[in-house]
Amino acid sequence: MRALGVLISGRGSNLQALITASEAPDYPARIALVIANRADAGGLQLAAAAGLPTLVIRHQDHADRASFDAALDAALRSAGVDLVCLAGFMRLLTPGFVAAWRDRLINIHPSLLPSFKGTDGPAQAVAAGVRIAGCTVHMVRAEMDAGPILVQAAVPVRPDDTEATLAARILTAEHIALPRAVALVASGRITIAGEQVHYHDAEAAAAASVFLA
Ligand code: GRF
Repeated sequence: MRALGVLISGRGSNLQALITASEAPDYPARIALVIANRADAGGLQLAAAAGLPTLVIRHQDHADRASFDAALDAALRSAGVDLVCLAGFMRLLTPGFVAAWRDRLINIHPSLLPSFKGTDGPAQAVAAGVRIAGCTVHMVRAEMDAGPILVQAAVPVRPDDTEATLAARILTAEHIALPRAVALVASGRITIAGEQVHYHDAEAAAAASVFLA
């Protein structure tokens, strides 16, 4: 059983997907701590309602990124966390933090990487006129929105989609992809060697590609 730390900045719908998944008796991870960098992050209420320990570590209270990341690191370690999930966490982490949690640090991004990195994946997809969009769950590397891809989920882009309608469809896919990727990693059915992802059985490999109509 892995102890999961979840870092959030906002509403926390991906956190809620993890909470719901981790309540199943056979789920291979339990949420040990939820940390937000903003006291007004809606996800804090979701965590509290689920009876989970929460912490607010405000980035404004730290002189620099290294000091903020050191506070995150200390809190995660003292909670016994061994797998960290960025679920709508809108801060860039320092290379030192990323190295310390290498292959134990998972991010969810609302595009099919390596397309459309950055904060506005759905808007970029609409602007580019792609017909398939989606989300990516990946191991974090120092470069933003890069790293070994664990699970991707694809959704159609409709001709009348706006950024908001596409983002909502992608979000539905995120809520499937994130708990699934965490389960695959936590159960040891996915491992990372260098930049390569190894799927240890055919079922795990099949679970890495999600197609939603
Ligand atoms: C999601 O779209 C996630 O992919 C992105 O930020 C959003 C967070 O949403 N990184 P929520 O807070 O999980 O509802």
